[in-house]
Amino acid sequence: MINRIRELLSGIEDNERKKKDEQIIYTLLEKGYFPGLDGIPVIKSAISHIDGEKGLLTYRGYPVQELAENCTYEDICYLLVHGELPSYEKWAELRKKLLQYKEIDKNVGRVILEMDRKLHPMYMLSAGVLLLQANDPECFEVDHYYNSSKRALRLIAALPGIIGIFLNREIDFTNGKEFDSFAQYCLYVFNQEYALDEFWVDIFEKILILHADHTMNNSTFSVRAVASSKASIYASIVSAINSLSGPLHGGANERVIYMLEEIGSIDNVENYINDKLAKKEKIMGIGHRIYKTYDPRSLYLKNEILPMIFGSGKKIDSSLYELYKIAEKIEEIVLEKFSGKGLYPNVDFWSGLALKAMGIEPAYFTTIFAMGRIMGWVAHWVEHMEIKNRIFWPEQLYNGLDTRHLPAEREEEITVSREAAAND
Ligand code: ACO
Repeated sequence: MINRIRELLSGIEDNERKKKDEQIIYTLLEKGYFPGLDGIPVIKSAISHIDGEKGLLTYRGYPVQELAENCTYEDICYLLVHGELPSYEKWAELRKKLLQYKEIDKNVGRVILEMDRKLHPMYMLSAGVLLLQANDPECFEVDHYYNSSKRALRLIAALPGIIGIFLNREIDFTNGKEFDSFAQYCLYVFNQEYALDEFWVDIFEKILILHADHTMNNSTFSVRAVASSKASIYASIVSAINSLSGPLHGGANERVIYMLEEIGSIDNVENYINDKLAKKEKIMGIGHRIYKTYDPRSLYLKNEILPMIFGSGKKIDSSLYELYKIAEKIEEIVLEKFSGKGLYPNVDFWSGLALKAMGIEPAYFTTIFAMGRIMGWVAHWVEHMEIKNRIFWPEQLYNGLDTRHLPAEREEEITVSREAAAND
């Protein structure tokens, strides 16, 4: 057996893959299972790729920074789903469709407005997508691929509207308004004044692009797991939204800002970090499952987007400059303290500062992540519909009790007490 394993491993040419496969075998032999599925390939996918050692992220082969620098939301949406960048005609058609499909049915809008205003926007968003499902009785026919793909596009277009209705308390929020681009519409949801300024629209669009896909992360894994049961596309996207809301995933961006506010001054940074480490608590926005060096999205935010904002001469709240300086100090200490441990600020660490500069409430940050990531979720769902599907159904190691039986007296006791209750 061992010889056979050795023989199979020696046949793997890709050294990186070989190292990972060896690690999988060691983990299996050592632990008997894979905590957090760390390192376990669950699917073959051609959509995005990460090289965690080099700090590289590509969508369909293109480095994410190049795409953020030169492309639009529509380009990325088309690229992720179809594999190539669109021709001008396809690009224009997609932009037209996204803006045309943005309107939300009044029945759905009415229920969104009934929701508690204090509800976290991510929970509202997941409920909103379920309302779309409830309004679409034929959505269970997932094998009708063409109809499902149309639904996928409508879902991407619908996300900003759900958020816009809830945030702006306006049932007709999405209706009858013209936009130059889908990204402009997305920003309009949060800040109508900034959506008129190309400078902010461009930055917002870059942020959406940076978040568009990221291989088999927790939310994308949810999309594929649910898709594998042949549930509706809404079911897949809702599970992904809920996964993304967690603080260990997309929900970290909001918490980074709360952390910076709690620290309050550069002088408190060192103590704050030491205190967290002493309590064995995580520092929000730090660390990543895959990257063992700086996450390229995070670097792009830090080196390109934030200097653009803070050096722009645009009106920016002075307290935000202070938070920016606190973040820089955290970065400095983290890089020093964790050098060798592969812990770096991740995309959530820097994105919140950019979004806050646009006057957006932190509670809404993860909904913006979702507006970008839905392109990737949909691309994965489409890819899943095109492969030979096998339902995701992993194994567990049972560590509960051996089989046992109820004592006969207990059955009698239950019968007597039920009879007594019935006669009461
Ligand atoms: N602060 C302090 N220590 C950390 C942090 C952190 N943020 N992240 C990881 N570590 C340490 C762990 O304590 C652990 O140390 P140990 O080996 O001495 O026990 C080691 O690094 C490995 O950490 P894990 O939690 O096992 O790493 P995992 O791959 O499971 O988790 C994750 C990755 C969830 C991102 C983690 O780093 C984390 O919780 N970070 C904070 C939350 C966050 O920023 N999430 C956003 C992720 S990016 C995204 O989803 C877009």
